[in-house]
Amino acid sequence: MVQSISSSRAATAGGLAVKGLSVRLGGEARPILRDLDLQVNPAQAVGLAGRSGCGKSTLIHAVAGLVPWLRPADVDGDVALAGDSLIDLDPGQRAHLLATCLDRPDGQLFLPTVGQELAAACHLHRCKERAQELASIFAVSNLRHRRITELSSGQRQRVALACAFAGSPRPVLLDEPTAHLDSTLAAELLVLLEGLLSAGRTLIIATHDPLVFNHRMVTRLVSLRDGRVRCRIDHSRIYDPGNVRRNFNR
Ligand SMILES: Nc1ncnc2c1ncn2[C@@H]1O[C@H](COP(=O)(O)OP(=O)(O)OP(=O)(O)O)[C@@H](O)[C@H]1O
Ligand SMILES: [Mg+2]
Repeated sequence: MVQSISSSRAATAGGLAVKGLSVRLGGEARPILRDLDLQVNPAQAVGLAGRSGCGKSTLIHAVAGLVPWLRPADVDGDVALAGDSLIDLDPGQRAHLLATCLDRPDGQLFLPTVGQELAAACHLHRCKERAQELASIFAVSNLRHRRITELSSGQRQRVALACAFAGSPRPVLLDEPTAHLDSTLAAELLVLLEGLLSAGRTLIIATHDPLVFNHRMVTRLVSLRDGRVRCRIDHSRIYDPGNVRRNFNR
């Protein structure tokens, strides 16, 4: 799979680089993303913030290849991982290189039961032996025989997260990962993500949750407005409450 990636060096080597990305969904006059640049270093957690509708999920979909491969769109610019362009790869090919956890977990859970979903993710990523461990890490072991359609939103989110972390330690795109979790589970997820980050994972987290964007592991916050990067704030300035208020909560 990796060998099939174009060798073009359109973006900075190492980490994930989005360069001049513009997205116009099919039939829409207005672009949703406009000439957007984003650089995420290896083993860095970057938060994506900004008001509802500013384009965070669309950016994640475009990086994962869901746009334009599953949703017709005009896409310009480049998305590259470790310097290799992903732009010609479909979502299935990109899934071997980047994991994605969508804001609506239903959109990526297709099998009848939790156990089947986890087994399929582990089979796809050649780590069958990890299914039990992932179920335990994401607190879904006791749900393995339950039907996906009978789970609460938070339970579905945990199943989708467990599936996203199957396989190789590739970068993970997380869209509102705490949205459906209670505060205890959200705090536990952040501890888990911090551990994965220390182990070398790269994380991109779209969020409205102050628990996430104030967390020490998030060393860069990128705020979008109207499909563009409005501002970037690095670690030392994130903790200035005025900064958060001025830049991220409006
Ligand atoms: N399928 C679609 N067709 C047309 N417009 C869409 C579609 N999906 C999203 N949009 C529009 O694209 C813009 C960006 O949406 P997006 O979901 O990326 O925002 P977001 O920043 O993730 O918002 P939120 O914080 O509410 O999740 C919005 O104006 C939205 O209405
Ligand atoms: Mg969104």
